[in-house]
Amino acid sequence: MITPSMKGIILSGGTATRLFPLTATTSKQLLPVYDRQMIFYPLNMLVKAGIKDILMIVAPEHSGQYLNLLGSTLKKFGINIYFEVQRVPRGLADAFILGESFIGENNVTMILGDNIFEDDIAASIRDFSSGGMIFVKEVNDPQRFGIVEFDESGKVLSIEEKPQNPKSNFCVTGAYVYDQRVVEIAKKMKPSSRGEIEITDVNNAFLQLNELKIKKIEGEWLDAGTFDSLLEAGNIARDKKLYENFDPIIDQAIAEFNEELKILAKKKLL
Ligand code: DAU
Repeated sequence: MITPSMKGIILSGGTATRLFPLTATTSKQLLPVYDRQMIFYPLNMLVKAGIKDILMIVAPEHSGQYLNLLGSTLKKFGINIYFEVQRVPRGLADAFILGESFIGENNVTMILGDNIFEDDIAASIRDFSSGGMIFVKEVNDPQRFGIVEFDESGKVLSIEEKPQNPKSNFCVTGAYVYDQRVVEIAKKMKPSSRGEIEITDVNNAFLQLNELKIKKIEGEWLDAGTFDSLLEAGNIARDKKLYENFDPIIDQAIAEFNEELKILAKKKLL
């Protein structure tokens, strides 16, 4: 049997109506978080974890912008970026259906394009062997998230999506690691009452198999989906100097892209 390698997916579609009118002209995940586009934060985590094949799932109206930014900059570092268009935002678990042939017989880490982690989760991704693994963080507003229920011994009992009466304050963040079974699990999912195939159902499926690992994160974590959280993300990135934690590959790719733009701008002026 061939040992599975780890593939990466960044889910970066959706309509981001809460950020209108900013997202009327570009994708949420291409908006700036301090000195770089938001998308570089999840991309950095995958690169730090040593992942060489990364699938970007994007909305059709922004696919050109993603291709322009990421289509050629990382190849020379041995990182292959693939693209898949998600026409309709059918839910987070749709990523594994769209990514079926990309994942193949391998493991996969998916990070949401608007998620920013202060903690370095790359080591946990590298150490993953099989089953599922999620990262949880204590929050003040649990009704907004997937929430984990624990028993007295700390064992996970269930995960509920946006519960009205949350059973804890521990929220499932937007980084998920699974083995190849995730594809078949996602394909069997039925849409929830909000019409989406839910990542929470995928996590519960691995939980029922007794194969879901939970890692608690202590540092800052944000999904930058509102004006306030976008601003907060920028402030945290600056104050905590998150730009110092980037893999040199990402820093160099950003610098080279900027250089290319400068050369093009000069040519246009001539
Ligand atoms: O951020 C963590 C939370 O993300 C989890 O705690 C929840 O369990 C999970 O369901 C998800 O909740 P949200 O309601 O915050 O997900 P949202 O619809 O905002 O989508 C998250 C990101 O994924 C967003 O940047 C847009 C993108 N997206 C979303 C959907 C539904 C897609 O690219 N395609 C989609 O079909």
